Parts: sequence; structure tokens; C-alpha cells
Amino acid sequence: AAGGDRAARLAAVRADLGDCQRCRLAGGRKTIVFGQGNPEAELMFVGEAPGADEDEQGLAFVGRAGQLLTDIIEKGMKLRRADVFIANVLKCRPPQNRNPESDEILACQPFLEAQIRAIRPRVLVGLGKFGAQWLLKTAAPITRLRGQLGEYEGIPVMPTYHPAYLLRNAAGKKDVWEDMKVVLRLLGKPVPGE
Ligand code: URA
Repeated sequence: AAGGDRAARLAAVRADLGDCQRCRLAGGRKTIVFGQGNPEAELMFVGEAPGADEDEQGLAFVGRAGQLLTDIIEKGMKLRRADVFIANVLKCRPPQNRNPESDEILACQPFLEAQIRAIRPRVLVGLGKFGAQWLLKTAAPITRLRGQLGEYEGIPVMPTYHPAYLLRNAAGKKDVWEDMKVVLRLLGKPVPGE
């Protein structure tokens, strides 16, 4: 692809991460969850942090929230999950799924930055408070950010609700679908139902 070999750049980021011991989460994790998908993806999702299932399997969004994210991508957007890239703000599971702490976010930041620079997607989606706030460099609440396009290093960013939130609040799915329609239009892809 133009701009160099995305897969090779991504592999270099993973190698740099190594057996990361840069923050306290190293002590409690089973597996580093780097994120996965197509290095040539035009669309990249950024979530919060691995949960128990992700920590077990070493893959992002493979638990219940992950199944809902898969449905949003495949049943809703009519894209293949394997064609997008999915990563998290934190690569290691916080104990008891507590929120990420500021120093953990800072320690992990260079790796998500490097992943985005390696992939250079056409559109980024920030999932929930942590994904959205990281990409947009803001502390604004997700309720205010959701649905409002921003940008990260020149790449359009759509902040939307986290799938784990949608599992508790199905009414939010309508808003997420509105946001994904905007994403599809930005990508020049067909919008199902239109
Ligand atoms: N929630 C996230 O934010 N990321 C995952 O990978 C799984 C659940």
C-alpha cells in the first residue's frame, strides 16, 4: 500500500511492546491484547481495555461486548470484522475490570499512537468514554461527544457508545446506528436501508 508496508509497521509496534512491564497491569494480566484485524483496514475501532475473555484469549472484543460489536459491524454495517482493525486504549486487563488509571493510559499511549500511524485508517471509531476521550484528547463526557465527528492526527473520529453499555441499555443502539451510518458515508460504502 502507498506509504509503506502497514503489516510490517504493525509488527514492529508489537515487537517494541514486547513482554511489556511498563505499568502495574503487567502483574495481573494473563496476556497482552495487542488488537487484531486487517493491517490495511480503512476502519479502526478503539475500545477501553481487555476484559476476562480477552485476557484469556489474547484477542480484543471476544466476550459479550465483542459479540455485539461483531453484530454492529457485520449485521448492521454489512462489513466483515476481519476487514477492520480493533484495538484498545489499554493492552492489559485492569483488575476486576476497573477503569483505566491515568498513568496506565499514559504508559500505553505510545503503542496505540504507533498502531494508528501504522494502519492509517480512513476513519476511527472511539468506543465509549475511554476510547473517545483518548482519540479526541478531551475529558468531555461521552453523552456530549457521541455522534459528533472529531479528528485524530487528521483522521476523522466518530465517538459512540461502548457495546458493553448497549448490553445494559438497548435504547442506545439507535444512536450507535446513526453514528455508524455517518461512518459508512465517510468511507463511501453503502448504507443498509437507504
Ligand atoms: N471491552 C473493551 O473495551 N475492549 C475489549 O477488548 C473488550 C471489552
